[in-house]
Amino acid sequence: MDLGLENIHVLVTGASGGIGLETVKLYLSLGANVTAHYNSNSKPIQNLQVKFPALQCAQADLSSESAVKSMFDALSGTPFGPVAVIVVNHGIWSPQDVPIVDMTIEQWDHTVSANLTSSFLVCREFLRHLRAATESVKDRAAIVLIGSTSGKYGEANHGDYAISKSGEFYVCRESVMC
Ligand SMILES: NC(=O)c1ccc[n+]([C@@H]2O[C@H](COP(=O)([O-])OP(=O)(O)OC[C@H]3O[C@@H](n4cnc5c(N)ncnc54)[C@H](OP(=O)(O)O)[C@@H]3O)[C@@H](O)[C@H]2O)c1
Repeated sequence: MDLGLENIHVLVTGASGGIGLETVKLYLSLGANVTAHYNSNSKPIQNLQVKFPALQCAQADLSSESAVKSMFDALSGTPFGPVAVIVVNHGIWSPQDVPIVDMTIEQWDHTVSANLTSSFLVCREFLRHLRAATESVKDRAAIVLIGSTSGKYGEANHGDYAISKSGEFYVCRESVMC
């Protein structure tokens, strides 16, 4: 099946994790040029790079505004050119059950920053770069946000995660309306 992704530059965030790495493999199989993003663990991506020349990697803590900007600036200068498609997949989920009554402000802030604020920063920087892109890149532009049923129905003892995934939906909706 031809989805028109041949040589299209796709950025997958959180590509060192389970869903992200599989997403990278799928886009590569469809002929895309893929940037696989990671934060602290490059190993799974390096293992893939041996097999796929159309794969490059990029490191950034996406909760940092300056790091997100630097990443997009650097990607524009690579042979893959400006990013046309982003898959906003990175995210954290605390393995510990913590009801709201016991949750610290540090946990709340950390999850919202790593999941929701980072998604806003990635979408905003992508859209800013898109303004300067050619019409052919704009024609292919797409944002994919990886949500969760938690964002729709909530999740007991993971209120920080649920609210961050719910908020991502609105970041995506407004991005599409730009
Ligand atoms: N797994 C599930 O059952 C499930 C269900 C519903 C929705 N989801 C959603 O699917 C997505 C992927 O889940 P997953 O299970 O594949 O996750 P995962 O294996 O835990 O991987 C998480 C990824 O996010 C990156 N990351 C974490 N904090 C970051 C930060 N501050 N800046 C940049 N990158 C950061 C990690 O990078 P490093 O490892 O390099 O640090 C890693 O690549 C998430 O958005 C999650 O909410 C997952």
